[in-house]
Amino acid sequence: MKNILIIIMSILLTVLFGENGSDKSNIYAGVQRCKVCHETDEMGNQYAVWKLSQHANAYKTLLTEESAQIAKSWGLSLPAQESPKCLKCHVTGYNNSKAEFGKKFNKEDGVQCESCHGPGETYRKENIMCDLDLASANGLIMPKPEDCLTCHNEESPRYKAFSYESYYEKMKHKKNPDYNCFSDEEEDEDW
Ligand code: HEC
Ligand code: HEC
Ligand code: HEC
Ligand code: HEC
Repeated sequence: MKNILIIIMSILLTVLFGENGSDKSNIYAGVQRCKVCHETDEMGNQYAVWKLSQHANAYKTLLTEESAQIAKSWGLSLPAQESPKCLKCHVTGYNNSKAEFGKKFNKEDGVQCESCHGPGETYRKENIMCDLDLASANGLIMPKPEDCLTCHNEESPRYKAFSYESYYEKMKHKKNPDYNCFSDEEEDEDW
């Protein structure tokens, strides 16, 4: 009887919180976590492309004189870099509680991977990442053009007409088509 109860409890816990007994799927791990794997040439170095994009500077923009002027003209009570009215589009996960950020998360990284691909604490593990279905089940988002419009819209004080094609062209980062997730294991077998 006791055993059956334990089994039922553990099934319930797994259903509610996932394998580890706690749900981490809402936690923003931070771009440093993605960088570990996504900055190698072997994988296509998406990190380097992002780092050179304006998204990487989105928070730093709020520290400029230009932003101070905008904050003033909007009559904000807080400086731009502290105001939710600016942070909502210039950092990742601005509205989340402290518990929803991993140790490596840094808001100064601006609009980083997880702004578009979803909080990554759960899906960033290699065995999950190699399987797109499993990664999606763990929160990975492959953004659609309309997802850009949550920030690229007229609420922005510097809004410019948004065309997905030309904007995507400026920030696109690609996989290396020759990269094979499982090649390491195959090599080990040949050894
Ligand atoms: C342990 C290494 C590792 C880490 C850490 C990691 N990834 Fe990945 N990721 C991979 C691998 C391997 C692939 C599959 C690459 C391929 O097939 O070219 C992948 C694929 C992806 C894809 C493409 C999905 C698809 O199948 O089309 C996205 C998007 C992605 N990762 C985002 C992230 C983000 C965001 C983070 C940080 C939160 C992250 N990854 C952290 C290894 C990693
Ligand atoms: C979380 C908010 C957010 C999302 C989502 C977002 N962006 Fe942005 N984007 C920004 C901000 C903020 C800037 C301006 C950064 C700066 O210069 O400080 C920007 C700037 C850009 C720029 C540079 C614009 C220029 O004038 O050269 C491009 C290109 C761009 N975004 C493309 C995209 C595309 C494509 C998508 C969807 C796949 C997207 N963005 C989704 C917030 C976002
Ligand atoms: C609805 C989302 C959104 C909000 C809210 C928002 N921004 Fe932005 N901001 C953007 C986007 C997107 C861009 C890039 C526009 C483009 O190039 O098409 C941008 C661009 C800028 C730029 C120009 C950056 C550059 O590289 O030239 C400045 C400065 C700026 N924002 C400051 C602010 C300040 C200050 C606030 C708060 C008062 C704010 N933004 C609120 C989305 C937003
Ligand atoms: C502004 C939004 C945005 C940001 C920031 C962003 N991505 Fe992406 N990412 C996209 C879009 C859009 C696609 C293309 C989705 C598609 O093709 O369906 C994509 C595709 C990818 C792919 C698959 C590429 C392929 O060839 O299929 C990988 C891997 C990836 N992103 C990793 C990252 C990593 C790692 C970071 C941070 C260093 C990052 N992304 C930052 C929007 C973003």
